[in-house]
Amino acid sequence: MSEAKPVRIALLGCGTVGGGVLRLLRQNQAYLASRVGAPLEVRHVLVRDTTRPREEGCEQAWITDDAGRILEDDSLDVLVEVMGGEQRAGELIERGLQRGLGVVTANKFLLARRGPELLDLAVKQGTDLAFEASVGGGIPVIRTLREALTSDWVERLDGIVNGTCNYMLTRMREDGWGFEEALREAQRLGYAEAEPSLDVDGHDAAQKLVVLAMLAFGARVREASVPVQGIRAIDAADHRFAERFGYRIKHLAVGRDHGGHLELRVHPALVPTSDVLASVSGVLNAIRVEGRALGPCLLSGRGAGAMPTAVSVVADLVDVARARIAGVAGLATRGIQMAERALLPLQEVSSPFYLRFSVQDRPGVLAAIAGSLGDNGVSIEQMVQTGAGEGPVDIVMTTHRARWGGVEQALVHINQQDFTAKPGRFLPILQG
Ligand code: NAP
Ligand code: HSE
Repeated sequence: MSEAKPVRIALLGCGTVGGGVLRLLRQNQAYLASRVGAPLEVRHVLVRDTTRPREEGCEQAWITDDAGRILEDDSLDVLVEVMGGEQRAGELIERGLQRGLGVVTANKFLLARRGPELLDLAVKQGTDLAFEASVGGGIPVIRTLREALTSDWVERLDGIVNGTCNYMLTRMREDGWGFEEALREAQRLGYAEAEPSLDVDGHDAAQKLVVLAMLAFGARVREASVPVQGIRAIDAADHRFAERFGYRIKHLAVGRDHGGHLELRVHPALVPTSDVLASVSGVLNAIRVEGRALGPCLLSGRGAGAMPTAVSVVADLVDVARARIAGVAGLATRGIQMAERALLPLQEVSSPFYLRFSVQDRPGVLAAIAGSLGDNGVSIEQMVQTGAGEGPVDIVMTTHRARWGGVEQALVHINQQDFTAKPGRFLPILQG
């Protein structure tokens, strides 16, 4: 074993995830070498600030802010990209693939914008582009879709794929924390993106859904075509009402294959407390896929943070390194096949809904709301009113299955009425 030529690696980025990768490579050094059939040798670590203290065991000689120096190193085998962002990371990955290097990345932002193009390049160059850590942190969902479910047809996917949102919603519901306090703690724990609006406004989940759709539905999808809603508008009262009706609020990435069309969307939703996704709490992620032959299958685990994510990155590194040693580099990447798929417009999506109105408490208001909903084909299932006296009251409803566009139109009408104190809002309800 010690005779084998080492597999030489450049680590691009050494923050939360990069630090975890170095730790795992050091802690499991001998075991990983035996799995690969050769030692894994770090040659370079690319950062912006070369003076910052790094993970224990990170040698000063590895550290550089000069990407050119890395790309000129002819002895390299694999680039591990954990720096994030689109432009610089994209350039370096592209140049690495052009040179025939194996590439491992955790970068869903880049994959959602340029994934198909970079995969095509990897295939053309006969090398691998592996990206397990880009979705679900330490959960092996990419491998499951690419390998284990390759014999089946995925028809449905429901995922809690943003650890920051799930952590924040959990702290807000269970501990009564405010939005800012919950976000600060998610940042301190290393869950949030460098730009946390990517998390709380739903874009990170949309990018992950685009990546999942490549494998689950064989779809080339533009991120901009996925409707996205984040969690900023959810408040303590929504959590209380949801609980009262028998639901929990979760931030979901939803995919459905209707044959002719795909349905892809990202938003908070009410999930029945009896559904296993309702009890996926804190930073845990869960992805439920439903195969035509398999039926439902749930994958759950820690969806963010240094070590869970490092587990996925290093597992990819082991696969890519083994394939190179075995002379089958590029084989796994060639198995990913994608085509353009039409998306169902959000307005045509059918679902039951949760509606919340803040209105003046006076005769005729409820009838007016019910009338607007009825005019748009929306039928009420349950209703509660809370608060009384001087100020506005909350009217909260759940509906039977209705068209998304119908609910939107009814709300536009209701929000224009003089009895409306604050614009009404709605959330879809997840149905089994
Ligand atoms: P991070 O803590 O912000 O670390 C980024 C690292 O990349 C830092 O070491 C930074 O250098 C370096 N870097 C960034 N831009 C650079 C540039 N232009 N040139 C040179 N170095 C640069 O980020 P992270 O949380 O580890 O996330 C890294 C990637 O993993 C992202 O794509 C993220 O979406 C993904 N991811 C993160 C998690 C998670 O839980 N955090 C989970 C799954 C996937 P300095 O240290 O000098 O600033
Ligand atoms: N910011 C991401 C999250 C990291 O919170 O899920 C994992 O991709």
